[in-house]
Amino acid sequence: MEYHERTFVMVKPDGVQRGLIGEIISRFEDRGLKLVGAKALKLDDELAKEHYAEHEGKEFFDDLIDFITSGPVFAMVWEGKDATRQVRRMVGATDPAEADPGTIRGDYGLDMGRNVIHASDHEDAGANARETSVFFEDDELLYYEQATDEWRYE
Ligand code: RTP
Ligand code: MG
Repeated sequence: MEYHERTFVMVKPDGVQRGLIGEIISRFEDRGLKLVGAKALKLDDELAKEHYAEHEGKEFFDDLIDFITSGPVFAMVWEGKDATRQVRRMVGATDPAEADPGTIRGDYGLDMGRNVIHASDHEDAGANARETSVFFEDDELLYYEQATDEWRYE
């Protein structure tokens, strides 16, 4: 059995500056998810506003756009069984103060506005496709088998 659900994840500028890209990749690899796309880039205002369009008009929107464009980010797409929900659980609550220890935000964050990582919302059905298309062209995403797939899935 194979599972091809894909989810969009991004290490935010604070995570990149703090040298957490490798640690975050390791967590998803260790879990058994498959990396199918990755790139480092610096968002401009237009791309940032497209990515966070759902929050336009909220009081934290301008600060969020300033922060997310303040330095490089690392965008990824991960594939696997129930990938969107599982990744959100690994990322933890939006406010690191509320995030459980063992989650990425619970282990690496202290402040709502510096919460290290973004992951697509599993309760928003279109979020993954929408966010992935902001960052990746179709031909930048991979399709491949891993010899270990049969040891991850029944
Ligand atoms: P993200 O989109 O970044 O993965 O975070 P999330 O789904 O857990 O939270 P979301 O509600 O989508 O909010 C996006 C980001 O905006 C900042 N935020 N600040 N001050 C506030 O009330 C507030 N609310 C949200 C956070 O940095 C959050 O990650
Ligand atoms: Mg969100």
